[in-house]
Order: sequence, then C-alpha cells, then structure tokens
Amino acid sequence: MCGIVGYIGPREAYPIVVEGLKRLEYRGYDSAGIALFDGTELKVAKTKGKVADLEDRASKEITRHGNVGIGHTRWATHGVPNDVNSHPHVSNSGELVIIHNGIIENYESLKQELITRGYSFQSDTDTEVLINLIEDVKKQENVKLGKAVQIALNQVIGAYAIAVFDKNKPEEVVVARLGSPLAIGIGENEDEFFIASDASPFIEYTKNAVYLEDEEMAVIRFHKGIKIRKIKDDSLVDTYVQELQINLEQIEKGGYDHFMLKEIHEQPKAITDTYRGRLLTNEAIIKMAGIEDNMKKFLNADRIIIVACGTSWHAGLVAEYIFENLARVPVEVEYASEFRYRNPVITEKDVLIAISQSGETADTLAAIKLAKSKGAFIFGVCNVVGSSIARESDAGAYTHAGPEIGVASTKAFTTQITVLTLIALRLARAKGTISSSDFRTHLLELEMIPKKVEKALQSDGLIQTISEVYKNASNFLYLGRGYNFPVALEGALKLKEISYIHAEGYPAAEMKHGPIALIDENMPIVVIATKKGHYEKVVSNIQEIKSRKGKIIGVVTEGDTQVKGLADHVIEVPETLELLSPLLTTIPLQLLSYHIAVMLDKNVDQPRNLAKSVTVE
Ligand code: AGP
Repeated sequence: MCGIVGYIGPREAYPIVVEGLKRLEYRGYDSAGIALFDGTELKVAKTKGKVADLEDRASKEITRHGNVGIGHTRWATHGVPNDVNSHPHVSNSGELVIIHNGIIENYESLKQELITRGYSFQSDTDTEVLINLIEDVKKQENVKLGKAVQIALNQVIGAYAIAVFDKNKPEEVVVARLGSPLAIGIGENEDEFFIASDASPFIEYTKNAVYLEDEEMAVIRFHKGIKIRKIKDDSLVDTYVQELQINLEQIEKGGYDHFMLKEIHEQPKAITDTYRGRLLTNEAIIKMAGIEDNMKKFLNADRIIIVACGTSWHAGLVAEYIFENLARVPVEVEYASEFRYRNPVITEKDVLIAISQSGETADTLAAIKLAKSKGAFIFGVCNVVGSSIARESDAGAYTHAGPEIGVASTKAFTTQITVLTLIALRLARAKGTISSSDFRTHLLELEMIPKKVEKALQSDGLIQTISEVYKNASNFLYLGRGYNFPVALEGALKLKEISYIHAEGYPAAEMKHGPIALIDENMPIVVIATKKGHYEKVVSNIQEIKSRKGKIIGVVTEGDTQVKGLADHVIEVPETLELLSPLLTTIPLQLLSYHIAVMLDKNVDQPRNLAKSVTVE
C-alpha cells in the first residue's frame, strides 16, 4: 500500500512533499519519487529504495523548486521494485504526471488498446497505463484535465487514490479515490492545499481536512479552492471539512529508538484513553454511545460475526472467548479475506463487528460491504478517525490508541481488546448473564489494567537478556490455552513480522497432535501459563516439552513457583482475572520480538515486504 503526498500553494513544495513521504513510509518502502513544476519545466526524480535515497537522487538530478509537487512511496504490486517502476509516471507527451496507490485490474487490456494507438510504455506498472489513458482521453475528447480523469476512471476496474497534474496548467491538481484512502488538507486561508493518504504529512500545517469518499474526485485550484464531484456522473458533492484530532508530537518517536518501542510503552495511556468516559466504576456502568443507541440490534442478534485481518483478527479471537463467556452470545471469527469470497450465510439478525487499526484494510472493508448488502448490522472498531471502515459502518467505537506508526501492531491490539471487553461486559449486563457483583469486579479490575501493564513493562531488561539467548533460533513455538491461545498466535506473528524468524502459535493442548515433533534442544517454546487459566493443564504441557529437551520461556503470574521450577526462563506479569490476562501476557511477547529483531539488526518499524495498512487485496 503506497503513500501519496502532494502540495499546491505559495510555499516550496519539495520539502513539504519529502517530509510528508517520510511520515508515510510505513505504508510502503520499495521505492520513492517526486515530480515538481519549477515554473518552466516538469522535474521528476525517482529511485528504488527509501525516501532518503530519493533525497540523494533529487539533489543530484533536479532543481528542487516549484509550488506544486506530488510524491510517492511504494509498496510494489505490479512490477518489481526498481527505478523505472517507481512513481511518479509521466505520459508519453511528457505533459501529464501521476502518483497512484492501488491496483488497476484491467490495465493489460487498456495497455493493448493504447499500444494500437501508438502509445509506448517504459515500466511494467498499471499506473503508467492510467496516465496515458488520461492523456489519450484528453486529446481524443479535447477536454480539460478534470474531465479527462473522470472519463478515464470510468473505464478503469480496480482500486485507486491518485493525484495528477499537467505541466501546462500547474495551478491545478486533480485527485480521485476508489478503495484507497485520500485526505486533502486545506490551508488556514484556503490559499494552499495538501494531498495525502492520511493526515500525518500535513498536521503541522493545518487541522482542516477533507476525506474523499469512494468514487469521488476533486479538482484543486491554487487561489480558487476545491470542487468535489462524483466520478460516475460528474455530479457536484459538498465539501465537508473535518478538524483533525491528532498532533505532531503523537507521530514522532519521542526519544525512543523505534516507533514500535514507543507504542509498546504507550499502552498504559492508550488503554486508559480507550476506556475513559466509557468505564465508570463509581456508577458501576459502562457507557458507549454506539452500543447504547443500538442495544436492540445486539440483544436480538442471532450471532456476532467478527471480521478482521492479522493482529486485529487475533483481537477478534480473544473477543470470541470473552463474548461467549460473559454475554452468552454465539460468536464466529472470520478472516476477512476468506469471508468475503466464501459466499457466507448472513442474515439481518446478524451483527458484524469489523476490527481494523487503520480502518483501510481492503479485505475487511469488502467483508463489511458484503454483510451490509445482506442486511447485517455493521459495528466498526477502528483506531484511525474518519477512516473508510469507520465511515462504512452503521455504528462503532474508536480505540483511542493515538497514531500507530510501527508496522507491527502493538497498542492497537490491547486497545482493541479493551473496547471489545467493554462491549461484552455491557451486553452481559443488559442480558443479565453476569451478576452485579461480578460486573463490578470486572470493571474495577479493568480499571487497574494500565497500572499492571506498567508493571509488566518493567520486565524489559530481563526480556532483553532472554532475547540475547534465543536471538539465533531459527524457529519458535508459542503456546497458550483459552483466552491466551490468541495471544500465543499474536506473539508468533510479532516475532515473524519483525525478526523474520519462523514461529507458530498453537493451543497448548494441540501440541500433542503434531507440533511436538518439532521439539528438541534447539526449539524455544514460549508458554503462557497464568495462574487462573487451565494452569495445571498447561503445566503438564510444559512437562511434555521438557521431556523432549525443548527450551521453555514461561509467561507466568507474579509469585509463580511451579513453572519457575520447570522453565528455562520465566517472565512474570501481575495477577488479574483470566479474562483480562491477554492485556498483560501480550506485553512480554511484544518486547521479546522487539529485542530479538533489534539484536538481529532488522528494520523494526518498517519490516521487509510489509506495510501498515493493506489497502489492496
Ligand atoms: C500486524 O502487526 C500487522 N501490521 C498486520 O497483520 C495488521 O494487523 C493487519 O494488516 C490488519 O490491519 P488493520 O488492523 O489496520 O486492519
């Protein structure tokens, strides 16, 4: 999923676009490029690699001046990461230039048509086809750029967020979106405009933003403002300006070596911010507008279907245990990418909860649209305010984790579990499936979680020592039972995605049905063995591992002695209700993966081949 940035206004565009690309580099870092109009000429610099490589290339190749500029940081889909496939792409005439985030599915057939009309192509990308299609329409129909973009996009199948300008009319930039996110920042006096995949590239310049909806395009004119239209029928759309809630400090490292470490340490505050105003222990109530306003939907639901991807799917799995245990409602947890194509049975009596940090994950968005088309009620749990999934949902609840920049999700996971736990407790109260004393106990315990997370974070030094021991392992197993089985999956995912060590998470009891064959003195096994959850059963699993010489790293409740006597290493977490233990047991696993990846000199915040939000399928 690429990052796109643009600027048109009185300032120099180059520094704004380049700094903006650095803010969006978590979206893709295979190549980077920029196009500027310097008053006479269109200047383009692009290169395989990071934005820093682009700065180096640009300083040698182009005059970095001009008041209009567009830039791109790439996550390769069509065409390998190399200089020629990098964006921006210029049309055959050299007049039009484009940046694009998304995939044009019918680009091959469009390309063949254009070739028959004399167009030639340098790259293997779908995007170069699109800019030449726009050029061809502009010529054939003799229309302005905006109209040409609209006509061309009506011939396109796929997903896109694009920005295009014509060197002969540099006071105008045309943008459009379908499926991929696009925000426009409006300068205080409407005398300058910023274009970006999300607001982080322009929050230091303005708090006023317009989020384009699907199938919308905008013509942005210097000194003349913005005109938004529907791509399908060219109809005008009102411009809805939102005030941004995030600030610059939130998207900077704040003295930490990596965003991931900062975000791990932000979890006490993130969890507190997430339950603030919702968890009212004094009145022993939970108040969430999205739930209160739609309580009937939840109470009359035949089942709850949870759809998500990656770490968000793991949060959904924890929620399945919590909802079924507390609220006695059947829950199904679905990989969004499978659910959307499985022709699932969905009815109007289904509530679908879509979990997504970015709120832009294409498969989750498509799963929502499918369920909505069959009458299900859609409840979104997102972190990014104003994101596509938030806007597509019938109702929802934000996790207030603040911007999550590190590609490996951490604070989003624990705040997702916090929101889902609040919902389950509220439903249980409404359904009377929990006694008022139990309810109060859960509220008080949840309120204490941030303090207990702080305590768990104090094991950082010990976990560094343990990481040193196991950093060269080529495989890891993670085991957990009940609420902590999904945490085992999450721990394995964290290690895989940032250290590139192969790891698998398993229900502890499932080990005997296969994975136990992998165990020998070279296999580290992380076992979550907290006091209140099937403890004795987990202890027997540990003995089974020990008898095969596996190396055991136990995540245990403070004061544990039994596992301490069996394991090679133990990491303690404070005691809490088993149902809330995933909020604590996940912390040591996040830190273990972080320290191992740092020791292996991996790029922790931007792991290879990954991107923060997967906006294409
Ligand atoms: C997790 O660390 C990964 N970045 C990835 O699995 C992520 O959870 C997944 O892509 C879902 O993203 P979302 O929550 O933004 O929808």
